[in-house]
Amino acid sequence: MTNQTTTAPGATAPTDERPYSPGLEGVVAAESSIGLVDGKNGRLLYRGYPIGQLVERGSYAAVAELLWTGEWNPGAQLHPSPISDGVVTALRQLPRTASPMDALRTAVSVWGAEQNLPWIPDVEQARALTSFSPSALAAFGRLRQGLDPVAPDLSLDLAGGFLQQLTGADPDPAAARALDAYFIVGAEHGLNASTFTARVITGTRSDLASAICGAIGALKGPLHGGAPAEVANQLHEIGSPERAEQWVRDAIGRGERIMGFGHRVYRAYDPRAAALRHVAEGMAHMAEWLSLAVQVEDVVLRVLEELKPGRIIKTNVEYYAAAVLQGVGLPPEVFPATFALARHAGWTAHCIEQAAANKLIRPDMRYIGPKDRDLPA
Ligand code: COA
Repeated sequence: MTNQTTTAPGATAPTDERPYSPGLEGVVAAESSIGLVDGKNGRLLYRGYPIGQLVERGSYAAVAELLWTGEWNPGAQLHPSPISDGVVTALRQLPRTASPMDALRTAVSVWGAEQNLPWIPDVEQARALTSFSPSALAAFGRLRQGLDPVAPDLSLDLAGGFLQQLTGADPDPAAARALDAYFIVGAEHGLNASTFTARVITGTRSDLASAICGAIGALKGPLHGGAPAEVANQLHEIGSPERAEQWVRDAIGRGERIMGFGHRVYRAYDPRAAALRHVAEGMAHMAEWLSLAVQVEDVVLRVLEELKPGRIIKTNVEYYAAAVLQGVGLPPEVFPATFALARHAGWTAHCIEQAAANKLIRPDMRYIGPKDRDLPA
């Protein structure tokens, strides 16, 4: 935390000596028992369980129920829900060029207006919204290609139902399983910007749909939503392992960042990257891409260690998310909104937790502008 301040020209010096932390860095703004992000040791726990075990032995439905209720029920199920005519009409009004994140935010907003959700947000509302959003995003995925939405197969899980509604065909079970694993990995990550946004909105006693619209808005920003699509472009540009070293040195020489590496919190290998790498290894048709990715990863880690001594820059989740999302056949423009689908479980769990011990979130501000001026005569 810091007491430093940027005083505007002509402004009075601040008299408020309370600590100010830009970006709220280092400020503890909530207590939670949902997820632990242990950056130093490279651990991510949902309700105490490590992410690796949850991906290996769980499903997104079981993980979502775990995040919402704290109970582990491996048989839990979530199925895609049909979307209303009102939502389809709203999505049809959007330009086909609209970002899928904007479409998802719009759909959740319309859904919220239709549901008129009562305070206090609960697990039933969380289930309903989490089951709605994949159908809505898939509908827009078709509309933007000039195709009509298709009804969900209600026997599928959310990942399978998303793929089925996107393509209009029965999903490949292996692809659906891989996407389900991606959903688990993306479900929760502590008090990140979008989760904090959702908690702030819930803190005003606003409804769950409003909180998730705000969270989607926060996740849309490139500093948060990540860029697995850029990882894919990067590997495409590198092309072959022999070109990796020069490419990385040139990019760092130009002051660029290597996508898929580094993290604000993790100072060890991102456990989500490890889990998704394992998933990607199970996708036979991604073998060639993955072999290039693994070789490039080794080169990047070695060169970063040499060129950025003392900095601990390891592989992050985006690196292998790129492989999995590509492998299941999603177009890169839909990657960020697919991440938003995954994060529904964590967002809604935080809204429920916030509401259960609610306190309006209202930090203070240090005023650094002019004081006691008179308007010109
Ligand atoms: N490639 C090259 N250099 C990197 C780097 C990367 N991916 N990540 C960090 N660095 C370097 C910075 O250039 C900086 O070096 P300098 O001190 O010589 O200028 C140093 O490491 C610290 O950077 P900083 O931005 O302060 O670290 P951070 O921990 O706050 O950064 C990220 C976190 C995620 C913003 C950063 O690692 C990044 O931009 N990564 C690439 C984008 C990405 O993969 N995003 C998805 C994150 S899940």
